[in-house]
Amino acid sequence: MWWKESVVYQVYPRSFNDSNNDGIGDIKGIIEKLDYLAFLGIDVIWLSPVYQSPNDDNGYDISDYQAIMDEFGTMEDFDQLIAEANTREINIMMDLVVNHTSDEHHWFIEAKNNRNSPYRDYYIWKDPLPDGSAPTNWGAAFGGSTWEYDEKSGQYYLHLFSKKQPDLNWENPALRNDIYQMMLYWLDKGVAGFRMDVINMISKDPSYPDGVEQATGYGDGGPYYFNGPRVHEYLQEMNQKVLRKYNTITVGEMPAVNVEEAKLYTGKERNELNMVFHFDHVSLGDGKLGKWTPQEWKLTELKAIFSRWQEGLENEGWNSLYWSNHDQPRAISRFGNPSRQYRERSGKMLATCLHMLKGTPYIYQGEEIGMTNVQFDSIDNYRDLETIHAYHDYTTNGLLTKEEMLEAIHKRSRDNARTPMHWSDEPEAGFTNGVPWIPVNPNYKTINVRRALADKESIFYYYQRLINLRKKYSVIVHGKYQLLLPDDEQLYAYTRTWNDERLLVICNFSDQTAMFQLPDTIKHQTEKILIANMDLDIERDLKAFTLQPYEAVVYILN
Ligand code: GLC
Ligand code: CA
Repeated sequence: MWWKESVVYQVYPRSFNDSNNDGIGDIKGIIEKLDYLAFLGIDVIWLSPVYQSPNDDNGYDISDYQAIMDEFGTMEDFDQLIAEANTREINIMMDLVVNHTSDEHHWFIEAKNNRNSPYRDYYIWKDPLPDGSAPTNWGAAFGGSTWEYDEKSGQYYLHLFSKKQPDLNWENPALRNDIYQMMLYWLDKGVAGFRMDVINMISKDPSYPDGVEQATGYGDGGPYYFNGPRVHEYLQEMNQKVLRKYNTITVGEMPAVNVEEAKLYTGKERNELNMVFHFDHVSLGDGKLGKWTPQEWKLTELKAIFSRWQEGLENEGWNSLYWSNHDQPRAISRFGNPSRQYRERSGKMLATCLHMLKGTPYIYQGEEIGMTNVQFDSIDNYRDLETIHAYHDYTTNGLLTKEEMLEAIHKRSRDNARTPMHWSDEPEAGFTNGVPWIPVNPNYKTINVRRALADKESIFYYYQRLINLRKKYSVIVHGKYQLLLPDDEQLYAYTRTWNDERLLVICNFSDQTAMFQLPDTIKHQTEKILIANMDLDIERDLKAFTLQPYEAVVYILN
């Protein structure tokens, strides 16, 4: 199972590299950087959507599944990307967005124009309640109701995200078949698999009940569409009709999934998916208004989450490992320390902690050079529809002040991850010679690829070493995980064991020194450092020693 031994790198095309200076990253731009990615050592590129789209949600609203977005290039460019990646032994994993389409997809246009069109039933339409109101009280992910009224037919259609993202009706076998044919088209082109967007939301509870009212005034429909009644049936069918015919890599993005559900999605005998992306650690500290009211979180909570997943999927399923992606803040700002003093050290610490866990690691573009959150001082510089909607909704209905909202945006907005990649200290970070679609993070002069490549001690080379180690030590891929010191609020320590290979991983998540004590249960004779983020020329007794702030060290025990 090659995907267990792989490291995946996520490219968000719009922000990666602009080859024609229109300010928007594109496929040719990615091709230009393949040597860079090969040098880093990654095996798979997960490409955020490159399909035709009106870009209400930056490509997560698809109007044609078998065409490339004009701004990103042509199908010839895409074919060249696959070919060029493959010559560097890099596979391409496509984003598959099939919970919804764009309202500009021809299926939806026909569905809307003609109640008798076969495409009408590709979407979810409901009559108004007797008083004319929406069929349920559910609130949509990007603000407002999940139901949009269509004057022409006098019915509402469902959209769990924006009203330009109508949900597909997976109950309809013809729709499912069209999706499978589309997937085969891409697999035949040579893509290696799919990252499936919010795939645990495709099956809705057919009774459409109201949800419990939230602070926003809308009801929480989650219980009626997360991990819905037929989702496993659909994924098994997809596997049977599509995936099993190829040697694919698959990962399902799944809000509100727990370990028990994940065993069903990824279980060896279940023939559904290889991995899921859960949200437990990235939701740490969510408050009353979710991520817009961020609270403190504790290391013990983070360790409990990872341990629950590590232990839960041991033998039964397989984990995906990530700190960040295009929907999350930058890893160092969220879980490490972006200060000048600790940015690099904490970035390497986070990388160590994650890459030594059991599962397939995902690196989000820019993470390998330690990019951090951006702090625009005006909402006008933000582009993400979720951020903009939340800002306007919460400040107009009095739930948060503008200052509070901007502060939350600096911590958690999706645009933190979407500012252009920093290639150099040239204007616009070397991303474009034009005007970027979203401003660059002003710290690109110090944090950029050119600088990282010129410094043997950079985060980049540390990631490169971590990736290389995975190829050499099966214990990193297969070793069984065991948490040590569960109650420690500074240190995350664990072992990995595979036959007679054993690793001890110790990471200091705090800006203070921390005392490590080896539990008596861990017996060993000798130890050797496998990788460490500090070059400390001191003798240490593993039984008890002090770690520096954000220090990370991995020992091989014998
Ligand atoms: C997923 C994507 C996100 C998108 C949403 C709707 O969560 O990662 O970017 O906005 O689905 O497609
Ligand atoms: Ca471009």
